[in-house]
Amino acid sequence: MEKLNVTPWEVSGELNDNAYSKLVERFGVDLINDNLLSRIKKIANGKLHPLLSRNVFFAHRELNLVLDDYENGKPFYLYTGRGPSGKMHIGHLLPFTFTLWLQKTFNVDLLIQLTDDEKFLVGSREKSEIEKFTNDNILDIISLGFDPKKTHIIADYKSAKTLYYYATDVAKHITVSTIKAVFGVNDSDNIGKLFFPSMQITPAFLLSALRGKNMRCLIPYAIDQDPYFRVARDVLPKLGYYKPSAIISKFLPSLQGNSAKMSSSKEESAIFLEDSKEQVRKKLMKYAFSGGRDTLEEQRKYGANPDIDFAFLEYSFLEEDQGKVDKVYQEYKSGKILSGEMKEIAAEKISSFLESLKTKKEKMKDKVEEYMFNPEKIKLSN
Ligand code: TYM
Repeated sequence: MEKLNVTPWEVSGELNDNAYSKLVERFGVDLINDNLLSRIKKIANGKLHPLLSRNVFFAHRELNLVLDDYENGKPFYLYTGRGPSGKMHIGHLLPFTFTLWLQKTFNVDLLIQLTDDEKFLVGSREKSEIEKFTNDNILDIISLGFDPKKTHIIADYKSAKTLYYYATDVAKHITVSTIKAVFGVNDSDNIGKLFFPSMQITPAFLLSALRGKNMRCLIPYAIDQDPYFRVARDVLPKLGYYKPSAIISKFLPSLQGNSAKMSSSKEESAIFLEDSKEQVRKKLMKYAFSGGRDTLEEQRKYGANPDIDFAFLEYSFLEEDQGKVDKVYQEYKSGKILSGEMKEIAAEKISSFLESLKTKKEKMKDKVEEYMFNPEKIKLSN
């Protein structure tokens, strides 16, 4: 079996429950327990986001300290990001829809970083292509409904002046051997890969640095991004800032099941945000890994396993009405709903979500500037 390897630049091996337990141990993160969930639920007026209640966001680092601060009236901020290497797929939405919910629930500032420089250094794309994806990804992201007054988008090349200034503070405290060990960089790699992590670590204290006051930073991400923030937790105290906190998710599996995360480089492994209703339906029907039985008789008799069924999972992430999700879960599990019917239900939900996103995206085209990172604006809004 393929060896489990999870770094920001490579994910391989089967991502089952066992693999996640190994990663939790290897990376030294904590599981989100009932106590933390009930604290968040209380703050969110009794409603937990489905990605939390269904344990997709399953691990954390010092989330308790962020909640302590919030409960004591001390400000904190959120930080997340995207590497603009291609079109966005629905897997990429997971951390963003969740971050949106966090922003609304806690009413806090949010930095969103687009690491165009990372994608240039790590992949084989031309800068001009990356720039196109950066602009398009920004539109996708802001169409989700972030608060323009409190959301600051850092596109690395554009924001380089400020970012680089602080990134050198970070770089000064990281050795070559740390980057080699944590990111799997080797001697034949380009030297940009050694420096880049400083750029992704910087937003974890940038708001504090610009405002001249120390605030905790909470970072939502899927577990592949953890290496950056493990290193950040070593460095930031040396610069006089808090260690960043994290809230960490599993991967949305690829259409074909758990063996690989959904990837934008394989057309048939992902549903893209720009896919039409017909494409969504076709991909689900043709490729989606099913937790249903092989024959109709068996499905009616024994029912499906919704927990590994791509269509059910995707439907459950997008349907906000928990009652509806529970009903579909029971009916699919008991054999009342068939695999093809489950795919139809999911296709409907996914494509109506994507259609409304496309409409919003069109309207966002002249709003982009409002969201772009501006250090002066951040200092003033202190
Ligand atoms: P990127 O573009 O690879 O991924 C963006 C975010 O989506 C998460 N992710 C997924 N989540 C669920 N299911 C999947 N199949 C899936 N694939 C990716 C990633 O973990 C990430 O949270 N270097 C980063 C960009 C970045 C960033 C950050 C991410 C800069 N600063 C701070 C998180 C937090 C990148 O290339 O992400």
